[in-house]
Amino acid sequence: MATIQCGATTALLLLLFLFTSSIPKSLSQQEYVNNKQLNCDTEFNSTKGNLCNGVSSSCTSYLTFKSSPPEYATPSSISYLLNSTPSVIAAANNITDVESVAADTLLTIPVNCSCAGPYYQHNASYAIKVLGETYFSIANNTYQSLTTCQALMAQNPFDARNLTAGLNIHVPLRCACPTQKQRQEGFNYLLTYLVSQGESVSSIADIFGVDQQSILEANELKENSVIFYFTPISIPLKTEPPKRIQRAATPPEDSPSPPSPPAADGGSSSSKKWVIVGVVVGVVVLLLVSVAVFFLCLRPRKRKNRATPPGKPFSASTTTETSKKVVDSIPKTHSLSLSSEGVRYAIESLSVYKFEELQKATGFFGEENKIKGSVYRASFQGDYAAVKILKGDVSGEINILKRVNHFNIIRLSGFCVYKGDTYLVYEFAENDSLEDWLHSDDKKFGNSASLSWVQRVQIAYDVADALNYLHNYTSPVHVHKNLKSGNVLLDGNFRAKISNFGLARAVEDQGDDGGFQLTRHVMGTQGYMPPEYIENGLITPKMDVFAFGVVVLELLSGREAISRDKNGTRKELPEIVNQVLEGENVREKLGGFMDPNLRGEYPLDLAYSMAELAKHCVARDLNSRPQIAEVFATLSKIQSSSLDWDPSDDLERSRSVSQISDSR
Ligand SMILES: *[C@@H]1O[C@H](CO)[C@@H](O)[C@H](O)[C@H]1NC(C)=O
Ligand SMILES: *[C@@H]1O[C@H](CO)[C@@H](O)[C@H](O)[C@H]1NC(C)=O
Ligand SMILES: *[C@@H]1O[C@H](CO)[C@@H](O)[C@H](O)[C@H]1NC(C)=O
Ligand SMILES: *[C@@H]1O[C@H](CO)[C@@H](O)[C@H](O)[C@H]1NC(C)=O
Ligand SMILES: *[C@@H]1O[C@H](CO)[C@@H](O)[C@H](O)[C@H]1NC(C)=O
Ligand SMILES: *[C@@H]1O[C@H](CO)[C@@H](O)[C@H](O)[C@H]1NC(C)=O
Repeated sequence: MATIQCGATTALLLLLFLFTSSIPKSLSQQEYVNNKQLNCDTEFNSTKGNLCNGVSSSCTSYLTFKSSPPEYATPSSISYLLNSTPSVIAAANNITDVESVAADTLLTIPVNCSCAGPYYQHNASYAIKVLGETYFSIANNTYQSLTTCQALMAQNPFDARNLTAGLNIHVPLRCACPTQKQRQEGFNYLLTYLVSQGESVSSIADIFGVDQQSILEANELKENSVIFYFTPISIPLKTEPPKRIQRAATPPEDSPSPPSPPAADGGSSSSKKWVIVGVVVGVVVLLLVSVAVFFLCLRPRKRKNRATPPGKPFSASTTTETSKKVVDSIPKTHSLSLSSEGVRYAIESLSVYKFEELQKATGFFGEENKIKGSVYRASFQGDYAAVKILKGDVSGEINILKRVNHFNIIRLSGFCVYKGDTYLVYEFAENDSLEDWLHSDDKKFGNSASLSWVQRVQIAYDVADALNYLHNYTSPVHVHKNLKSGNVLLDGNFRAKISNFGLARAVEDQGDDGGFQLTRHVMGTQGYMPPEYIENGLITPKMDVFAFGVVVLELLSGREAISRDKNGTRKELPEIVNQVLEGENVREKLGGFMDPNLRGEYPLDLAYSMAELAKHCVARDLNSRPQIAEVFATLSKIQSSSLDWDPSDDLERSRSVSQISDSR
């Protein structure tokens, strides 16, 4: 269906083109783009930009932009897209810099507009994100028609076929400065407005409190001219635009009132000859298109998902697909959405960094500063911090980390939103993650630098301390949901800090059990997720207790949560510890289970207590698992005993135990 519609659109365009090519030009105002931006293959004067015909060659001008979550919904992210300033957008719309605005809210964006050659424009730049973006999708979908595919092509050296992810596109945005005539009538600004469904010149005039005639004149439109959705139109303003744009309610889809594309352009001297030629051409084109559509439909479905064929006119169906692809490619992992109050609260004590500051601090996100994945080391005047790049809405993580304040939870110091990505700035952990120390092959964490028994117990104690805080001292109760050795960071003194709250949840407090939640989106790390979560999506604090048990087992054994034995059989730590602590020769088996990198330097009795504790934590039945408060109490005893422990006391005995196990 959509394809047939697009055929009709093409025919219509041809018609329009034929009509409008005879419009007389008075260079006093700006020519309306008149849907010609849909025909990317052809250049028109009106699609290249607004003529530089005003009194000044530069001025303050306004763009409008519809909030489109998750990527472009805050003044910060929109300002990077449109090359404005977050605080300027925030002030113009009476919101805060990082406030997320509801979808489709129209924001005004103050920009500096100036002449570049014959056209007024405001320069922005855009890095292509995914394969399949086209000049048209960038102009119409990403930039919401604030620019045109023709202007993009004219000002970029890249062939339309050659657009690849990462490429930086120069984006001229349509803006204008008042002409002599407009100035005389008292107009000081021009605003580029995005026409949307159901709007007319008169309804737009009402929004801004200007008379219809001045809008018609500013766009070289006639009384009976038609305006189109997804086209920009210039609005002359005497004062700054309102802080909140109240659009007329959008009528239902099939409402007869909105002007629809099929109407002819009123500006033409509609001679009958042209009408006939137009209709004939239109019918022929329609026929051709229908035939083409017919054949296209006969072809195998697979082809439909290909990127827009190069150099071909863009049909509605292909471009919608492209935009869908763009949206779908945004990972939904961090989609904890919290109220704007939350973000407002968060910003009160967090620093908002400029992207340039972060670039400088991380050496332009250079390889040498890469810690792991999308985490970089940053240096702010000698103070180190970690910068993590996240996609989409991360207000959830920001909000949780803002509310929690504990020595053993990584501290968030600030953030930055740039081009739809969020950059979170954390306290720096000098010694990387526990995972690196236990399982990495890297020389830095090699055998000789292995963690000692006392350090391991301290780490377990620290993690339990943090979980105890999350489960019992925050309201609502928080469940981390993604505890693993990779998310336990170590500072300069090997004190542990829990990080990565991307999956963390607040759950209803329900007395002793701390509450629960159900989810259908089971996400986490294999080997750390308890059975009730994998099987039923049940989220309770006991989920963290299970993962904690696995981390303790890693600390004891130096093995990974999931490993393979000599025969290649997959083994999980909970299963292994049950075998170790069952039946005969427990001491001996435990000696064999312990991390060889400890070189036997640990008190076997305390190791046994730790293993027993961990075994209870990883019980299949969540009701058999202890509360984290009990775990923490037990661990604090183990910890103080470990501090009293004199390695020489036990050394002989544990040596002999590990020798027995080695010789097996
Ligand atoms: C387009 O603009 C050029 C000058 O910029 C002018 O010479 C030409 O007549 C214009 N074309 C139309 C169709 O208005
Ligand atoms: C700005 O918003 C606040 C509340 O969010 C409101 O009290 C205030 O009147 C608004 N100011 C303007 C100029 O709209
Ligand atoms: C326009 O430029 C001036 C100076 O170059 C700057 O102070 C002002 O903030 C800019 N306006 C906007 C909307 O970015
Ligand atoms: C905008 O870009 C155009 C084309 O690259 C350039 O000529 C012009 O100087 C730029 N304008 C500003 C204000 O940087
Ligand atoms: C496309 O890009 C490649 C390399 O980036 C270049 O060699 C080639 O000439 C480009 N093609 C066109 C048509 O611009
Ligand atoms: C242009 O973008 C709008 C959204 O801004 C979308 O609804 C419309 O379908 C797009 N037009 C085409 C032809 O893809």
